[in-house]
Parts: sequence; structure tokens; C-alpha cells
Amino acid sequence: MGVIPSKMHIDIITVLPALLESPLDHSILKRAKNANIVSIGIHNLRDYSIDKHKRVDDYSFGGDPGMVLMIEPVERCINFLKSQRNYNEIIYTSPDGEVFNQRTANQLSITENIIILCGHYKGVDQRIRDHFITKEISIGDYVLTGGELAACVMVDAIVRLIPGAISDEVSALTDSFQDNLLAPPVFTRPANYNGWTVPEILLSGNTSKIRDWQLEQSLERTKRLRPDLLR
Ligand code: ADE
Repeated sequence: MGVIPSKMHIDIITVLPALLESPLDHSILKRAKNANIVSIGIHNLRDYSIDKHKRVDDYSFGGDPGMVLMIEPVERCINFLKSQRNYNEIIYTSPDGEVFNQRTANQLSITENIIILCGHYKGVDQRIRDHFITKEISIGDYVLTGGELAACVMVDAIVRLIPGAISDEVSALTDSFQDNLLAPPVFTRPANYNGWTVPEILLSGNTSKIRDWQLEQSLERTKRLRPDLLR
């Protein structure tokens, strides 16, 4: 019996829609959209500004340098989106959020609707975080210019896990990290390239022995390269 594809909807709120459009329109993401497994809405925050100059940011109280995303356009955009559907999570991308990992990707891949608000400039007015945001996510301990690249990373990691997004289901399940182990090495033809040979076992056709070898390799790689994953 084939897997019945589930449908997920992701809305992304940003001041730089162009930064998101291309990365979300290629490869697996494009195929997933075309196959109706996911739909992605990109919303330009400026469209929700009531200011005649379409301003979405202002100086921060307290005199610190750097601009802050204002409450009003963000609230108007989120309220508009909430009038269209119910959301499981409203995520804010920020270096001070919980660090994104495969577990978070798995959890989000089984939700139905999410909003990702991309931080920009010095960030968003704290009152948006207090009253609308349900989850704050960082993609790592470094500071990006804005949350758009973080949103792309998260959407890519999430969408490929939705059943039906990758043609070979097993492929997503055997990724690095899926069972807290790094993936084993992979090889393709030719079996001998100028004397560089493929491990004999992979050519043996003995699936159970191959699985054992792959697990052994995964464990060895994880111990050597990422011992923290085994703890
Ligand atoms: N915005 C700026 N830096 C970020 C990070 N590391 N993760 C998510 N959003 C960010």
C-alpha cells in the first residue's frame, strides 16, 4: 500500500521575500509543492504596513543602535493569516531561540500549519514575542543578517520529512541524525576507480551483512566525529 501524502502549509513573514523565493523553489521543495504535499506562502511585511512609506521598523526605545520591527504590521499580518487557518506553531527565527535539530524537524514535519516570522534588523518588538510567538528557533550559535536563511534551512529540513516528499521513503529515514547516528559512507559505480575500490561487502548482494556493516560504520563514524551524539 502506498503512503498517503499528508499536506502541510507554511507561511513565512519577511521583509525580504526575494531572499526566500529561489531557495524554496528548487529540487525536493519544488517537487513537494507541485505534488501538493506542501504549500508555502511568502508574505511581505511591508504589505501590512499602514504607513504611507511602507515602514515596518523604527528606532528602539532606550537609544540602542539598530532598528526594531514594529508591532503593528506584524500583528496585522499574523491576524490576517490566522483568519485563514489555525496554526500549530508561530515560530520566530532568532539567535536566542532553541537550537534547531533533527528532532525539531521531525516534530514540525507532522504539524499541519505553521507560521515562520523572520527576524530582521535588531529583531522584533518584544511584545510580538510575548503575545504571538509559540516557539523561538535558532539554527546555530552565530548571528545571521536576518532570519530568512534560517527559515530556508528549517523549511528544507522539515519538508523532506513529510511522507511522499522524497520518492524513496527509506532515504529520509536513513539520513544522518535520524537515529542519532551519522550515515554510513556511500559509493556508486565504478567499483574500481584507478585502484580505489569499494568495500567488498557492498558488492556481495548479502543484504543482512550489508546492513550490519553499515551500522558498524555509522557507529564508528559517530564515535569518531560526533561522540556527543552517543551520550
Ligand atoms: N537570525 C539571526 N541569526 C539567527 C540564527 N542563528 N538562527 C535563526 N535566526 C537568526
